[in-house]
Amino acid sequence: MDSSDFLVIGGGLAGLTFALNVADHGKVIVLSKGLADTSASDRAQGGIASVVSAEDSFDEHEKDTQRAGAGLCRPEIVRMCIEAGPDCIQHLVDLGVPFSRKEQVGDWDLGKEGGHSKRRVLHAGDFTGHEIMAALTKAASAHPNIRMLQDRIAVNLIEEDGVCRGAYALDSSHNTMGTFLGRCTVLATGGAGKVYVYTSNPDMATGDGMAMAYRAGAEMSNMEFVQFHPTCLYHPRAKNFLLSEALRGEGGKLRLADGSEFLRTYDSRGSLATRDIVARAIDFELKKRGDDYVLLDMTHLDASFVTQRFANIHKRCLSYGLDMTTTPLPVVPAAHYFCGGVRTDHRGRSSLPGLYAIGETANTGLHGANRLASNSLLEAVVFGRAAARDAIHWRDQAPAFSSPPPPWDSGEAVDSDEMVVVSQNWDEIRRFMWNYVGIVRSDKRFERALRRIEFMREEIHDYYWNFLLTSDLIELRNIALVAEMVVLAAGARTESRGLHYNLNRPQLSADGPSDSVVKRGSAVRFDPLAQEINYPWS
Ligand code: SIN
Repeated sequence: MDSSDFLVIGGGLAGLTFALNVADHGKVIVLSKGLADTSASDRAQGGIASVVSAEDSFDEHEKDTQRAGAGLCRPEIVRMCIEAGPDCIQHLVDLGVPFSRKEQVGDWDLGKEGGHSKRRVLHAGDFTGHEIMAALTKAASAHPNIRMLQDRIAVNLIEEDGVCRGAYALDSSHNTMGTFLGRCTVLATGGAGKVYVYTSNPDMATGDGMAMAYRAGAEMSNMEFVQFHPTCLYHPRAKNFLLSEALRGEGGKLRLADGSEFLRTYDSRGSLATRDIVARAIDFELKKRGDDYVLLDMTHLDASFVTQRFANIHKRCLSYGLDMTTTPLPVVPAAHYFCGGVRTDHRGRSSLPGLYAIGETANTGLHGANRLASNSLLEAVVFGRAAARDAIHWRDQAPAFSSPPPPWDSGEAVDSDEMVVVSQNWDEIRRFMWNYVGIVRSDKRFERALRRIEFMREEIHDYYWNFLLTSDLIELRNIALVAEMVVLAAGARTESRGLHYNLNRPQLSADGPSDSVVKRGSAVRFDPLAQEINYPWS
């Protein structure tokens, strides 16, 4: 058994920001499934949005965020994140992140992405996430109070008398189960793109934190709002390699196979409309024409600018035989970002005392019904720091526990040679989620998806109890549960809003915006946008 003051599950941007900001106050353990460079944070190409130039203002950033979020953003959270932006950027710069600057003048070289009315995306070439993670990993590894454990996949939270005490986690390289106690436990496991067959996300994005929080009884909100990135490379070997929206920010155009531009018929912002609009327009055109992909065209831009600014993307495309300076790139949408998650307040508190959620795992209210591009790295840093400030106090107020928790019980579980069942279920869930609960949805499709997911969850449950746990089985159980939450919330919402588009209910609800809330043992309910969460001890 390992004890700590702060148990952090997830070693991406949010988790390491939290760890670094509490480490001077106690012992920190960070559990992660793999190396930092396999996290979603590491893959972020675009950058981090913040108001750092005289041409921009907090009001403009706020307006853009709210417009993208289609009425579901919490205004005070939007303001809090945007105002904290410049300080967060300085925090990252102090840690050594080399954001790109303009060559002659030395000002920040700011990028633009869909839905932003101003240039405000700080980037480090097109390797932003990688540079940020390299700086944070270096700082965390050097801190004497931070212990980073890899190849650990958390299975279940430990909860006693309504308070979170830590988690059980599998050591996947030795196949042993460990008990990790924390005075505060933080879920920072990223998103759940692997619920869908086509996704820009890394393999580890299986919604582990979301599923664990739900099983422990925490409230989950707005799970139906899944963002599909419009431009992933369509190539058999590319595994949905993301082509950053920054390409369109620098003048890239989306075209149909015949070369025509089509987005202005959907939105006056054309290729730089928000992602919900662009992804839906592409989906509509592909289905109407029977085409497999649309084209992202950079060939009209200066080739040396393109190869310098997008060195990573250019190199990767060349490895597939595509030179983006001379050839338009074939692209399709893919699942990219969960706007919903563990419902939290402005301090990252979940509804389960002692449990925090930050980064993509959380639903803070910043993104509403559709995230504005590059606001997520900002949210990860703002909430990593806000949750750290709160957790330092919580650690001293949290009730003491009388006895150690029971060790993990693997019962009569035996080894299985039937991994075919696990992989069949993986494929099936991800495919029907794509077809039934994807970019365009309908009531009938929700019914079909729900029937299938209920059946599969039963099958997984039987499997789970009979066989020794493997990381594939743990992840399958998690994607199935997250899929069920998405289907339930999507089926209950009686409107189309932001990323959630139901053919049978294409209008906004006359009742105004509300959060969908799913909680273990209760039916889906709709609440006013979330408020502060107060625990009995604080
Ligand atoms: C991109 O570079 O297009 C992705 C950035 C984001 O999702 O915010």
